[in-house]
Amino acid sequence: MGNQRALLIGNSDGIGLGFTKHLIQAGWSVTGISRSALDGAQLPNEPGDYNHTICNVLDPGFRQCLTTAWAKQGPFDLVVHLVGVGYGLERDDFGREAETFRANLVSLVETVEVVMPEFLAMGHGHLMGLSSIADDILMAEAPSYGASKAGYSTYLNSLAFRSKKRGVSVTNVRFGFVDTKMAKGAHRPFMISVDRAAKVLMRCVHKRPMQMTYPKTMGAVIRVLRRLQSLRIWLGG
Ligand SMILES: NC(=O)c1ccc[n+]([C@@H]2O[C@H](COP(=O)([O-])OP(=O)(O)OC[C@H]3O[C@@H](n4cnc5c(N)ncnc54)[C@H](OP(=O)(O)O)[C@@H]3O)[C@@H](O)[C@H]2O)c1
Repeated sequence: MGNQRALLIGNSDGIGLGFTKHLIQAGWSVTGISRSALDGAQLPNEPGDYNHTICNVLDPGFRQCLTTAWAKQGPFDLVVHLVGVGYGLERDDFGREAETFRANLVSLVETVEVVMPEFLAMGHGHLMGLSSIADDILMAEAPSYGASKAGYSTYLNSLAFRSKKRGVSVTNVRFGFVDTKMAKGAHRPFMISVDRAAKVLMRCVHKRPMQMTYPKTMGAVIRVLRRLQSLRIWLGG
């Protein structure tokens, strides 16, 4: 796989950090973007190399940050959007709803605006995005998280259809609970480790599926719960 280049957006912690380690171990050159620096001591010394750019995807300069990364460290074979935030609605505070959509969904769309024309011009490339199994459930306690992920999955699935014939792959990844600071609830059924999640992402790099749901059992459980929610809506609540 030697000397391929990846750009990871949101990789200083959690799943992104775990995936960065696996890519570097497999010989990839990796460029990362996030608000804080990645602790280089956590990375393997060889064989791939690593660059990091400090950038907040909510800032107007995010697009320029992507363009600069492409010019300096690209062209990239793989771009992975991992940024995600989830704020529960506590004490009727709706103050971070728009921010959640901007961080989770709009930053993906901005990434696509910069990266997809480059991939299409090259005639190859792989865009991966981390949605969630939460894209398929109505979440009263975190409506903006579930809704932003629903839009995320629909957007990536549509792009996958559009770009496939042009040699560009798009993969929508839907995890259940992964053991990071984001999964902070009391109940975390079917939770997997960051290392397991990173291995699933490496499998996606090799197989390039349009969608990866993991664990599948949790995806099935959520689908059943969603049907029950739909029935409840149909019956009038
Ligand atoms: N953990 C789970 O249970 C789970 C389940 C399903 C899906 N997912 C999805 O998987 C993705 C990664 O989740 P995770 O659990 O690894 O989260 P995490 O541990 O909280 O890490 C999030 C990463 O995104 C970066 N980030 C957050 N806001 C940013 C911003 N405004 N600008 C730039 N970078 C930003 C963070 O770095 P800085 O703070 O340094 O900016 C960090 O590197 C998310 O999209 C999440 O929705 C997670």
